[in-house]
Order: sequence, then structure tokens, then C-alpha cells
Amino acid sequence: MSVAATQVRSDVKSLDLADQGKKRIEWANQSMKVLQIIRKDFIKNAPLKGIRISACLHVTTETANLAITLRDGGADVVLCASNPLSTQDDVAASLVRDYNIPVFAIKGEDNDTYYSHILAALDHKPNITMDDGADLVSIALTKRQDAVADIIAGTEETTTGVIRLRAMAKDGVLKYPIIAVNDAETKHMFDNRYGTGQSTMDGVIRCTNMLMAGAKFVIAGYGWCGKGLAFRAKGMGADVIVTEIDPTRAIEAVMDGHRVMSMNEAAKLGDVFVTVTGNKNVINKEHFDAMKDGAIVANSGHFNVEIDIPTLEKMASSRRMTRDFVEEFVMKDGRKVYLLGEGRLINLAAAEGHPASVMDMSFANQALSVEYLVKNHKSLEKKVYPVPQDLDRKVARLKLESMGIKIDRLTPEQEEYLASWSEGT
Ligand SMILES: NC(=O)c1ccc[n+]([C@@H]2O[C@H](COP(=O)([O-])OP(=O)(O)OC[C@H]3O[C@@H](n4cnc5c(N)ncnc54)[C@H](O)[C@@H]3O)[C@@H](O)[C@H]2O)c1
Repeated sequence: MSVAATQVRSDVKSLDLADQGKKRIEWANQSMKVLQIIRKDFIKNAPLKGIRISACLHVTTETANLAITLRDGGADVVLCASNPLSTQDDVAASLVRDYNIPVFAIKGEDNDTYYSHILAALDHKPNITMDDGADLVSIALTKRQDAVADIIAGTEETTTGVIRLRAMAKDGVLKYPIIAVNDAETKHMFDNRYGTGQSTMDGVIRCTNMLMAGAKFVIAGYGWCGKGLAFRAKGMGADVIVTEIDPTRAIEAVMDGHRVMSMNEAAKLGDVFVTVTGNKNVINKEHFDAMKDGAIVANSGHFNVEIDIPTLEKMASSRRMTRDFVEEFVMKDGRKVYLLGEGRLINLAAAEGHPASVMDMSFANQALSVEYLVKNHKSLEKKVYPVPQDLDRKVARLKLESMGIKIDRLTPEQEEYLASWSEGT
């Protein structure tokens, strides 16, 4: 595979923002120690030489450091947004101006622009696709089949994307192997839990400046993201209410000390509602009807379908923006409901997404998975694969080392004991 002469085409808000973007990219880099180690190795060994990569990810400071790492590994990388509201325009500008990485992303872009940017990333004729939500793969498979011939493999960052890709594999439409980075333990147990937990609180607070202590905080979905959010909210003194559809997750929430009830009940009580389910219409007409005056609704799941916004729009007699990312809907009976960040991932729309030190592990998995795919794609089928366990463990080991934490090793005697069925009798 030879690298095409990429014209440094790009579509970003303004290159004048690049100075600030560069400083912020460097700031994030300081907390991404595992990625730094991988980057050093990539610079030395150039494992991605000659590989074209199109990445459809949230354009943040952390993603910038991943893109730079891949470039330093020899890849020819272009980046587009995986959500219309998550782009950090200064970061996009700096990537283009300072790092020569083409970017197609503008915060607040409309749907047409969003999809035209994905098409621009596919014009790059990638060998590897990197997705966060599977939009790049879906567009390639449906609208740009010409681009598929050059693709050898791909990676997927988030839960919702993995679910979509598994559905594609099941229907026999997936055309190349994908590694589900989300499924690495060093991804979902940390990024989804601690990253989404903290940054979702950050997004809600930046939008509203509300006091969490004493607030009735309803969380729909007690998966990895929901658990993290519940503990952060509880830690700030909120009265946490969880809604679930899975009995095991629901009982886990009960035993973790949260109140659990149906959304119908919770709707009457909540001061703030956050959906993190990966599902649709989790908050719907019935719930809007029951909400208190002043209720705040937000979403931190991947797509903006978790809250039934079209119905909310129909139910309202008027609407206006009251603060940045806060839209007031006045109901016909005079009650007000506030929607944050257009119902898009609130941690990325109104805050800065996950802290760099947790994205360090997620993106270390991304970089190592790409290296693995380049080496091994010929032996893989058109399926969704987990991150190989040795890579997952390597990320945990490197993270511990970077934190100066040492752990014990099995003694030969212990190894033998654990491997033997005859011990313990
Ligand atoms: N905001 C971010 O930065 C960020 C980061 C990681 C993942 N995500 C996204 O967040 C979503 C959740 O991810 P996760 O890793 O926690 O997934 P998960 O599968 O671990 O958890 C989702 C939970 O939602 C529950 N659920 C489904 N439908 C429901 C309903 N109608 N009512 C109540 N609960 C319901 C499921 O039973 C499950 O327990 C996904 O869309 C994922 O892509 C967002």
C-alpha cells in the first residue's frame, strides 16, 4: 500500500484558533503517558508506514494526541467529527496548521455538513477506519462502496458503535474486520465509568451552574457510564435515582445504595435527568407530562435519540435559549422543561469530554489495535473482534508504571497452585 499524496484539504472553523489549540493539545499530552510510550516506539519502528487512516472521532485534545501518534507511526491520517457538537475548533485548527493533519469538523455543524465531512474523510481512501459510533463504516458500506476496496480493517471506540457493528456482522454486511476497542477492560471500565461519570457532571454543571447537593438526580441506564455518573453525583450530595430495564443492573444499583424505580415514577420526582442507555426515547411524552416545573434533561449516551426531542418540541408552546447549551421549553400548562446541549453527549457538547489521563488508556488501545490490525488483518474474518488480551493487559501495566505503582507477581509455587486441579484437596 502506498500513501496517496494527501492534499492538505480541510474544513475547520478558523486557523486563527490554532495557537490556543496547540497549547491545549500539549497540556493533554502531559497526562497521556501510555500514549507517549507508544509514540516513542512508533517513531522508532514506524509500524504504520504507508497506511492511510480515516478517523471519525470526537475532535478533542486527546484525539489530537492519538492522531499525532498514528502519524508518527508512519500513517497518513485524516480526521472528521463523530458528533456535530463535540468538536473543539481550536484543536482542529492546530492539527491542520501545526501537525499537517487534515481535519473536517466544525463545532455546531448542521447534519448535511456533518455527513459531507465523513464523505471527505472517505475520499482519503483509507486502509484503516477508526470510528466512534460507527458512522464512518455505515456511510462507507451504504453510500461509498468504492472506498471499501482499500479498507483492510477498522476499530470502534464506543458501546453504541460496537452494537451497530455486531448487527452488521450478523446481517452479513460488514466487509472487513473491526476491533471493538470499547470492549477492552482498560477502555470501558475506566473511560466509560470514570471519564463519562466525571465529564458528564462537568457538562451539566457548566451549562446550569446548579447545586448538586440535595438535587434529585435521575440516571437512565446503570451500565458502565451510568455507574460512573451515579457515584460522581452521589459524591456531590445528590439524591440519585436510577432507572433500568435489566434486572441484574437494577439490583446492582440498589446494592450500590441508589434508589431504583421506573421512569414513570422518577419523572415526577427528578430535578435533573441524564440518559446513558444507548437506547431511544427513554424519556418520552408520558415523562415530560409528569415532570416538575424547571426539570432539566440531558443525555450522555452516544446518539441524540435517548430523549424524544421532536415530541418535546411539539408539546411546547414556546422555546428559547436561556444560557449557552440550555434551551427552555414552555409547556402548554406553563411548566418549563430545560434541554441541555440539544440532547447530544453533554460532556462533549458543554464540557471538554473525558480527562486526558483516562483517554490515555482508551487511545493506547486504539493505537495498539491499529498496529495489530496492520500486522494480522489477513488472518481475520469480516467480524467484530475484541482487543487481544495481551494488549489490554499491556495498557494496564504501562498505566500503572506511569503512575509509579508496583504490583505483586505470582510466585512459581502460586502459579502451579492456580493451574492445578489436584491442589486444595
Ligand atoms: N458521553 C460519553 O463520552 C460516552 C462514553 C462512553 C460511552 N458512551 C455511550 O453511552 C451509552 C451507554 O454506554 P455504556 O458503556 O454505559 O453501555 P452499557 O451497555 O454498559 O449500559 C447501558 C445500560 O442502559 C440500560 N438501558 C437500555 N435501555 C434502557 C431504558 N429504556 N431505560 C433504562 N435503562 C436502559 C441497559 O440495560 C444497560 O444497563 C452508549 O450509547 C455509549 O456509546 C458515551
